[in-house]
Amino acid sequence: MTVSRREVVLPARSIESLAEWVAAGGAKGLARARELGPEATIAELERAGVRGRGGAGFPVATKWRTVLGAVGRHRYAVCNGAEGEPGTFKDRTILRADPYQVIEGLAIAAYVLGAREVFIALKASFEPERERVIAAVTEVEQAGLVGDLSIAVVAGPEEYLFGEEKALLEVIEGNDPLPRWLPPYVHGLFATAPQLGWQAHEPETGHSRRQESNPTAVNNVETLANVAHVLANGASWYRSLGTVAAPGTVVCTVVGDVKRSGVVEVECGTPLREVLETFETLRTDATIRAVLPGVTNAVLTEAQLDIPLTFEAFAAAGTGLGAAGFIVYDDSVCMVDVAAVLSRFLYVESCGQCPPCKLGTGAITSALDDIATGSGTDASLEHINHWLGVVADGNRCYLPVEEQQLVGSILRSFPEDFEAHLRGRCTRQHRAVVPKLVDILDGRAVFDAQQMRKRPDWTYAD
Ligand SMILES: Cc1cc2nc3c(=O)[nH]c(=O)nc-3n(C[C@H](O)[C@H](O)[C@H](O)COP(=O)(O)O)c2cc1C
Ligand code: SF4
Repeated sequence: MTVSRREVVLPARSIESLAEWVAAGGAKGLARARELGPEATIAELERAGVRGRGGAGFPVATKWRTVLGAVGRHRYAVCNGAEGEPGTFKDRTILRADPYQVIEGLAIAAYVLGAREVFIALKASFEPERERVIAAVTEVEQAGLVGDLSIAVVAGPEEYLFGEEKALLEVIEGNDPLPRWLPPYVHGLFATAPQLGWQAHEPETGHSRRQESNPTAVNNVETLANVAHVLANGASWYRSLGTVAAPGTVVCTVVGDVKRSGVVEVECGTPLREVLETFETLRTDATIRAVLPGVTNAVLTEAQLDIPLTFEAFAAAGTGLGAAGFIVYDDSVCMVDVAAVLSRFLYVESCGQCPPCKLGTGAITSALDDIATGSGTDASLEHINHWLGVVADGNRCYLPVEEQQLVGSILRSFPEDFEAHLRGRCTRQHRAVVPKLVDILDGRAVFDAQQMRKRPDWTYAD
């Protein structure tokens, strides 16, 4: 069975030049926003019901209105193209297929917010996408489509936290990806207010020396692509796709125990099972045992796979749609191993600014390793449960909540696997890896082999 594909942000054929993009209706969204003015543009996005595709599903209109209303004289817009969520490859696929729509969405954000400078942040390792984006930005600027708006493409580090919006701003400012305390609409790019003791930056050209908070909007690649299409085609068109509560499309990545890994755009509300069936299980006699929506949310069991792809349905099922990256595990997998490997990922990637997060993810990982390797006891489970209760205390960012959801849900949904390990009787395969994607080549997912050698201080073992 194949799912019904849609081609809103993922055109069937890549857009290779500015001329092709304009011929396909590009630039209309920006023109329409300029006709409407900032408030009416936000109102159109609100009518359309566009929600963020970076993970949390936050409404774009609410975010932009908040940034517009926040105290500050300078505003910035940022495109988050860090795409660090394991099992996710949709932003790179969108940028490869059509970077112009994302630049247009960002230019609309800049127009609405009155920003004179915008940033597109990508990992330095995303070389094909960076080349595509830089070439497209040059074409758009040379054609005079964005006036004197300055569009900078920033090359960032491999760390998972690079994609966290408060860390992303730090990277754009030239620092390590360590999340700061306050959200970007309160403490934005190049803010000079010396709040809570962090380093104040020299004012940017054209800024005065008084304190500046510089409210900033950070949006995901797919979100900004959607913005361009909504403005070009109108809120009613957008609402003709998807469901009443979840309009539009969603771009899903499917990896793991599937015959062909890949990325597909479908209408919101499509049952997850239909998307998964398109990619087929690896072994013909296998059934799906578990699906992880990234490492951000609770695991889904086989019985939950008919869930429609909407933020509401996923929340009602006690999980989250996240960035719609689905990691599939078939009935041969040991879920203790999955929990141990992915908990180690979060431990390694935690930056350690909040002690309960680094210590807690480390303690949970070590107890999971004990159970996985046969030296665990009932006390290991108690230890895990204790740390799950406090790991997110005083957290600057959401990473330790991911640990709670990931490990807590695997413990609840697959107690038999833990029981088997504690009694020394597990016969399942132990083969989980971190599905941090480098590429998907002709249906084959290429994972970052370096990740498994990364240590908790962000150095790499030989
Ligand atoms: C640990 C961590 C990693 C994240 N990585 C990404 C990422 O790679 N790309 C992304 O768009 N959002 C990522 N996010 C979410 C961003 O913080 C932010 O919510 C998002 O960029 C907002 O865009 P949206 O409103 O358009 O969804 C991450 C969040 C956390 C806590
Ligand atoms: S919660 Fe964890 S990952 Fe996030 S800033 Fe604190 S220590 Fe770093």
